[in-house]
Amino acid sequence: MTAAGLERTLTIIKPDAVAKGFVGQIITRLEQAGFKILAGKLIQMTREEAEGFYIVHRHRPFYGSLCAFMTQGPSMPMVLEAENAIQRLRDLMGATDPAAAAPGTLRKEFASSIEANAVHGSDSPEAAAFEIPYFFSDLEICRR
Ligand code: CMP
Repeated sequence: MTAAGLERTLTIIKPDAVAKGFVGQIITRLEQAGFKILAGKLIQMTREEAEGFYIVHRHRPFYGSLCAFMTQGPSMPMVLEAENAIQRLRDLMGATDPAAAAPGTLRKEFASSIEANAVHGSDSPEAAAFEIPYFFSDLEICRR
């Protein structure tokens, strides 16, 4: 949590959404929802980087496939700031499986499967505290 009740979270526009040309639309939706973008970059993760990012899922059956998917093309991690940013981003993203995501959510609109689900968002303050510095140094994060 930062001053004035603001909270930061990490989102990633995943390789499926970047490949389909949804970056602009997703960023527009994030800004319209009141998130301030404090940092962002287009990267192509190595296998090692994807495995490290998703280390909490290492025992899940989908871990290998998920890490392969995340390295298949460029993705765009971003640091977002808003009041209650972590929960608000999760609400905007919708359910992990787009088939279960509510109308109007990013995953309903842009995702194609439970794995290729367009966007990631930190699921707790502890996760955000791990995920933000995983991709961004303090110098890369703007104060707005
Ligand atoms: P994300 O919010 O980035 O967190 C973990 C990711 O694992 C999730 O989005 C999906 O991309 C992926 N995932 C979660 N559950 C499954 C599943 N049952 N099968 C395949 N991929 C999954």
